[in-house]
Amino acid sequence: MLKTLITRQQIADRVAEIGKQITHEFAGESVVLVGVLKGACLFLSDLARQIELDATFDFIAVSSYGAAKQSAGEVQLIKDVTTPLQNQNVILVEDILDTGLTLSFLKKLFVARQPRALKTATLLDKFSRRTVPVEADYVGFRVPDEFVVGYGLDYAERYRNLPDICILA
Ligand code: IMP
Ligand code: MG
Repeated sequence: MLKTLITRQQIADRVAEIGKQITHEFAGESVVLVGVLKGACLFLSDLARQIELDATFDFIAVSSYGAAKQSAGEVQLIKDVTTPLQNQNVILVEDILDTGLTLSFLKKLFVARQPRALKTATLLDKFSRRTVPVEADYVGFRVPDEFVVGYGLDYAERYRNLPDICILA
């Protein structure tokens, strides 16, 4: 059963605000948006159109929950970026920050490449679930400890195409 938590209009409004903030913070510079496949694809494509800067995209893939709702507890790199990140303003774009395992893994990986700046954007933040102390620089919405789908987020690869973010009960 699906129950709407965040509407497409609320998402659009918040994404526009984050885009404005990034545009302002990196005024006059270029940014590389790095999306974490596959969940962040929709957020990245909407966010990118709200960023009025010289921008490029790249994508990374890490091990996911697969068909389960539980994290396996470790993160594995499945696909790396092809862009050299040294001296670049990198904005890592995630769908949801849950335990923090994925984001802390990716931050370490990217810091090692010596970017000029490294910022993280997450559409959703399930803050009460954190086991690794990591926060994102740009957060769309703080959400309760419920399993959510839609706008890129899946359950066993389904529901990514829902325009709203819904609680899957
Ligand atoms: P973390 O490593 O525990 O922070 O988990 C981050 C990843 O877990 C996200 O990129 C999602 O793929 C997945 N995830 C965590 N919570 C949810 C949820 O409520 N719905 C869908 N995917 C989720
Ligand atoms: Mg994901």
